[in-house]
Amino acid sequence: MARIGIFDSGVGGLTVQRAIIDRLPALDTVYLGDKARLPYGTKSPEVVTQYSLRAAAFLAEQDIDLLVVACNTASSVALPALRRAHAIPVLGVVEPGARAAARASRSGRIGVIGTQATVESGSYQAALRGLRPEVEVTARACPLFVPLAEEGWTDPEDEVVRLVARRYLAGLQAASVDTVVLGCTHYPLLSGAIAGALPGVALVDSAAAIAAEVAERLGSAPGAPGTHRFYFTDVPGRFLHVAERFLGLPIATAEQVDI
Ligand code: DGL
Repeated sequence: MARIGIFDSGVGGLTVQRAIIDRLPALDTVYLGDKARLPYGTKSPEVVTQYSLRAAAFLAEQDIDLLVVACNTASSVALPALRRAHAIPVLGVVEPGARAAARASRSGRIGVIGTQATVESGSYQAALRGLRPEVEVTARACPLFVPLAEEGWTDPEDEVVRLVARRYLAGLQAASVDTVVLGCTHYPLLSGAIAGALPGVALVDSAAAIAAEVAERLGSAPGAPGTHRFYFTDVPGRFLHVAERFLGLPIATAEQVDI
């Protein structure tokens, strides 16, 4: 079976890796989380591109057949540079997420939430308009969702989580969106709170959408369960515990690397 590389700015991309493993259990994966440089979402496109090129170069050395850019911020700003630098297919999460949202929306009023850099790049807005020119897109950066998810504050009944979600998402509700793209690796963990603030709205998780795209590219041949290797550019204190929460599976070992 093929081996794929997956990279993200930290642990968030493990939600994407999990979706891919669920869909293609025989696949071998190599994950790189650039924890030392997190967050990408508040940095300039030039710096995110530079970091992404380093992460991709590390994974390319691991003999991978395909590279998945799990980070929405890197997918939004660095894909052209990554594709120029590597001969293997490089897939980002924006196109698959936008396609799923364009399909899901009946009214054509679609919300996009992500990091500051993702929203400012206009990547989802452009992808959605390319697919359905008539759509009205309302995009909102929700920076506090990232530390909330890392802290494990994701319970939709938690007062703080509810208030933050309501404050960020009020504009999307006012715009009467019927579909919202979770355009950040961390947001699937907060889907309960996001759904609570936007009743009746369909949430599109780009992790599931990219997993479907990888399956389409590689085919889902059965086989023995694949092996999974984890590398991080920093592995502080209780970090692996947080990583396991994002992956939803135990992580036996994770190696610290300098890239
Ligand atoms: N992985 C980032 C993303 O999906 C979120 C965390 C960060 O800002 O680095 O955009």
